[in-house]
Amino acid sequence: MAIILAIETSCDETAVAIVKNRNVLSGVVASQIPAHQVYGGVVPELASRQHLALINPCVAQALTESQRTWSEIDAVAATAAPGLVGSLMVGVTAAKTLAMLHAKPFLGIHHLEGHIYASYLSQPELMPPFLCLLVSGGHTSLIHVRGCGHYEQLGTTRDDAAGEAFDKVARLLGLGYPGGPAIDRAAQQGNPQAFALPEGRISLPEGGYHPYDSSFSGLKTAMLRLIQQLQAKSNGPLPVNDLAASFQETVGRSLAQKTIRCALDHGLTTIAIGGGVAANSRLRHHLQALAQEKDLKVYFPPLKLCTDNAAMIACAAAEHYDQGDRSSLTLGVQSRLPIQSVQQLYL
Ligand code: KG4
Ligand code: ZN
Repeated sequence: MAIILAIETSCDETAVAIVKNRNVLSGVVASQIPAHQVYGGVVPELASRQHLALINPCVAQALTESQRTWSEIDAVAATAAPGLVGSLMVGVTAAKTLAMLHAKPFLGIHHLEGHIYASYLSQPELMPPFLCLLVSGGHTSLIHVRGCGHYEQLGTTRDDAAGEAFDKVARLLGLGYPGGPAIDRAAQQGNPQAFALPEGRISLPEGGYHPYDSSFSGLKTAMLRLIQQLQAKSNGPLPVNDLAASFQETVGRSLAQKTIRCALDHGLTTIAIGGGVAANSRLRHHLQALAQEKDLKVYFPPLKLCTDNAAMIACAAAEHYDQGDRSSLTLGVQSRLPIQSVQQLYL
């Protein structure tokens, strides 16, 4: 069973983990949220510089906590795509350097594949094929998982990612960054039926709607207009809790409906979810209720495995390592790479 040290620096968490197959021996996540909070969102240049300052201490801590030495590590992995280029470069360069220094193989990993493997870490009985709903600050994807390295993206977003929509609407409501948890908290005190909002469906040229793709820009604009109308009507405080609850209800319901429909259409009876938005209480509620109705099984990993971490990258790397995949030390980073193309990362 392979022991992998993996680095994840695709956005605003500097993370290092050591995993033996599907067992986490150590996992360090240094969050940069406080550094970016003052700017109301992630500042790419600041993220790269923070990764640079944090990477070596995180590697040292992960090794100490795992109680392993370099002689026991089989390979070094790092997220190579997709993500912020400057941030990815820090992790990939560190991993390649460590691989060279300790004469270990290097593996570049696709970030979304890592999110899929987070489900395997928390649910060892999970087996492909299944449908994975990935909803984070950067992605909204429905992925048919056939096996390691074999994925088909069945649905995506045409504009903002789900988490991005939460963050932008939270800003409109004055709820701060990151917006998802703030909206979820405010919504607990609000009425989800207070305002009717558009679901952001994608029209097809032949009529009807795309069944699995999403769009959040129309919903975001509808929220802005609604807030402006409410402000024009009254000088009093905005009904923030009702607005948050109505927005969250619309996103949660529509994502859950698309996921269930996609699973049924493709004959998949198991669903796994991942990414920060997978923590959302209404999305979880609707998915659970609809899945039960249709006799489907849904796996909800714990939040610490939904948000960015390196254990999920190490877990994906362990399976690639076992099937003989290795990356070149000249592998570059890519800001975008479809998940269908993961094999491009290997020799
Ligand atoms: O997976 P993640 O940690 O990082 C990315 O890969 O982007 O996801 C972060 C996103 C943020 O947009 C945050 O607002 C959102 O996940 N988020 C939530 C909740 N918790 C985090 N969105 C809705 N409801 C939540 N409870
Ligand atoms: Zn992520």
